Amino acid sequence: MRKALVAGNWKMNGSLAANRELLSALSGAIRGSDAVAVAVCPPAVYLPEVVAQLQATAIAVGGQDCSDEKAGAFTGEIAADMLREIGCQYVIVGHSERRARQREDSAWVARKFIAAQSAGLVPILCVGEQLEDREAGRTEAVVAEQLDAVLDAAGVDAFDRAVVAYEPVWAIGTGLTASPEQAAEAHAFIRNRVAERNSQVAEALRILYGGSVKADNAAGLFALPDIDGGLIGGASLDADSFIGIVNAAAARVHK
Ligand code: PGA
Repeated sequence: MRKALVAGNWKMNGSLAANRELLSALSGAIRGSDAVAVAVCPPAVYLPEVVAQLQATAIAVGGQDCSDEKAGAFTGEIAADMLREIGCQYVIVGHSERRARQREDSAWVARKFIAAQSAGLVPILCVGEQLEDREAGRTEAVVAEQLDAVLDAAGVDAFDRAVVAYEPVWAIGTGLTASPEQAAEAHAFIRNRVAERNSQVAEALRILYGGSVKADNAAGLFALPDIDGGLIGGASLDADSFIGIVNAAAARVHK
């Protein structure tokens, strides 16, 4: 049985005052549950403050990125060990915004995934196709390339301490979501791809959906067989929306 995960990716949003207000609403409403784990991933500068505010709550904290290097002369970068030291449990790696803007390729993302696990963090590995890939019928080829790079570098057993997020790039922040058929197909493809190497690891792997998940479409997505929660951008900045999504994940039938 897979426990759902709902993770909020705040991206480059927030302020000390706004974070406090959002977190006090979330921590008042979100209780520990056997059905769903919850995490927030704020910008790195706010992590210590967010960790402190969420102490003794059921909400975990994650980073949005980490370096593939352990320490040293890497200006502006943040090591996975540092995230772990200040209290993170998760880190997002390979988000499409970083693949595009920072030109992170799949080999680099794989090194970040390994660095995260070496530090004791659970990586949330993002994969997903661009609109032109989907239109050209290349969705599976793109997702396979992104996934295989990590499977090859880290080994399939590493996926028992990792989460995958399928995020079609054309659905991120656009208000478009993948149709249930498109999402179900992509999630099944990912689980099968992992199962080709180890079926037990694949069965236990949590695969999140991301891309314009809102409180009113979450239940439909989470009901699909291979969807185990969500990576939430815009809707994670609004307490009522995020709580609605967490409740939808908690209410889903166990898979
Ligand atoms: P969105 O972002 O929910 O705003 O579409 C999702 C993500 O990029 O993780």
